[in-house]
Amino acid sequence: MSARTSESGFPIQPVYGPEDVAPDLGDRLGEPGNYPYTRGPYPTMYTARPWTMRQYAGFGTATESNRRYHQLLEAGTMGLSVAFDLPTQMGYDSDAAIAHGEVGKVGVAIDSLADMRTLFDGIPLDKVSTSMTINAPASLLLLLYQLVAEEQGVPSSALTGTIQNDILKEYIARGTYIFPPAPSLRLVSDTFAYCRNEIPKWNTISISGYHMAEAGATPAQEIAFTLANGIEYVRAAIDSGLDVDEFAPRLSFFFVARTTLLEEIAKFRAARRIWARVMREEFGATNPKSQMLRFHTQTAGVQLTAQQPEVNLVRVAVQGLGAVLGGTQSLHTNGYDEAIALPTEKAARLALRTQQVLAYETDVTATVDPFAGSYLMEALTDEMEAATQRLIDQVFEFGSSVRAIESGFQKSQIETTAYATAQEIDSGERVVVGVNRFTVDTEEPYEPLRVDPSIEAAQRERLARLRAERDDAEVTAALAAVRAAAEGTENVLYPAKRALAALATVGEVCDTLREVWGSYRPPESF
Ligand code: 3HC
Repeated sequence: MSARTSESGFPIQPVYGPEDVAPDLGDRLGEPGNYPYTRGPYPTMYTARPWTMRQYAGFGTATESNRRYHQLLEAGTMGLSVAFDLPTQMGYDSDAAIAHGEVGKVGVAIDSLADMRTLFDGIPLDKVSTSMTINAPASLLLLLYQLVAEEQGVPSSALTGTIQNDILKEYIARGTYIFPPAPSLRLVSDTFAYCRNEIPKWNTISISGYHMAEAGATPAQEIAFTLANGIEYVRAAIDSGLDVDEFAPRLSFFFVARTTLLEEIAKFRAARRIWARVMREEFGATNPKSQMLRFHTQTAGVQLTAQQPEVNLVRVAVQGLGAVLGGTQSLHTNGYDEAIALPTEKAARLALRTQQVLAYETDVTATVDPFAGSYLMEALTDEMEAATQRLIDQVFEFGSSVRAIESGFQKSQIETTAYATAQEIDSGERVVVGVNRFTVDTEEPYEPLRVDPSIEAAQRERLARLRAERDDAEVTAALAAVRAAAEGTENVLYPAKRALAALATVGEVCDTLREVWGSYRPPESF
């Protein structure tokens, strides 16, 4: 029997035995909740508390999204996860010319404190943890969230959640960057320092491999480029004067779960072991929480098919199972219709129900790291760790992850893999059920969710009213303080919070920072 090649390029043997497992397995694994955390960050994992069912959602204006969040909370979701529209993610207001046609489209439009107040209307911010998928202007959306919590009477020390705030992967794969690397890394470090002082239970960054995976990265590339970015953020924060144990406990990660679930479980286990070693050996972190890699997972959007979309329910269930067997802390399962459009309410509910079946009908929460000791899994975890470490070393041959990014290294590696995968699908070598095998002649009718195009006009009217009613002199003075901080060395978040409280908009603060820091220009990829 011949070996199958894994997604990361190493062989998966048809049969594994004791000779395939490293002799010092016990030391290499560690106990669950102990260094090097191969088996998970917590001693009890899901036996004490299931992962957080955290469904990514958001579209239209804050009113529509607020309604969807109430629906999700009523359906049993355990944490919120905000999707912002592209203008918000790019630091433009809904009435900016460049925003036309994108307002409220792929996420919710948030321009101001008034919008953020509406977004969380009726939701007690001391009772939910909220993830916000926002990067370049992440610190501003966090400040708006903090301002709304203050209005609810919720102390900032009680706030829990995460901002993605991972600008480096935006340069590599996702594209919602604003400023060049140096000021961007300064803003990330400023956010670490601000949260340590003001919002201590907040996860300050979600260092993401998901989008690189969706762009085509192999599991080893996904982990390697993500951990390399993580190392870059840690170095920048230490260079800014922070002690590693002051901020590292609040770093978090975000990965994909592919349908090849055995390799995915090995990927998660290898990632935890590498990160624990890097934090203790390279950065001297002594707080156990600094060494734990805690992560969120989203099932692979790129593996959803528009053909026979109900088949995606099976893919998402398998991918979700892989994430759970790999020890994820938080999980988003995709809607079966998302290769076609934003998920309908029914598709969003089925996606959540998939997690609830995994958590409450299977026995995967009965024990910790169930694959531990498996000949296959331990061998695959070792292979994944070795392949990942080789790629991390290649990144740092450029001197830093930023220099590798500016040379186009990660981007070209990912594009090469994506091209090979596309060729395998076109040739039929890689089976995609319903697409290149097991197809049907006629697809059943499907009615997608449609975002009301009139919401852009409504959002622009809200902005015009806000600008007419606010104290312009107060806003101008507050924005001048933001400019002064950006030109100097003061932590930008403090004057930015005052500006947002005075009803300056996200776009106005970002424009002020653009004037000082400029905008990023990507290298030409090959
Ligand atoms: N024993 C002891 N304590 C436990 C435990 C156990 N078994 N299980 C959980 N806990 C504790 C934890 O320690 C934590 O307490 P702490 O914060 O005081 O340490 C608390 O219970 C909550 O547990 P977690 O932190 O494990 O779970 P959360 O859900 O709160 O956080 C996370 C998970 C990964 C750390 C966090 O960063 C997170 O929620 N990330 C979500 C990111 C996200 O949703 N991103 C969406 C991206 S979508 C996107 O990018 C665009 C799209 O196009 C893909």
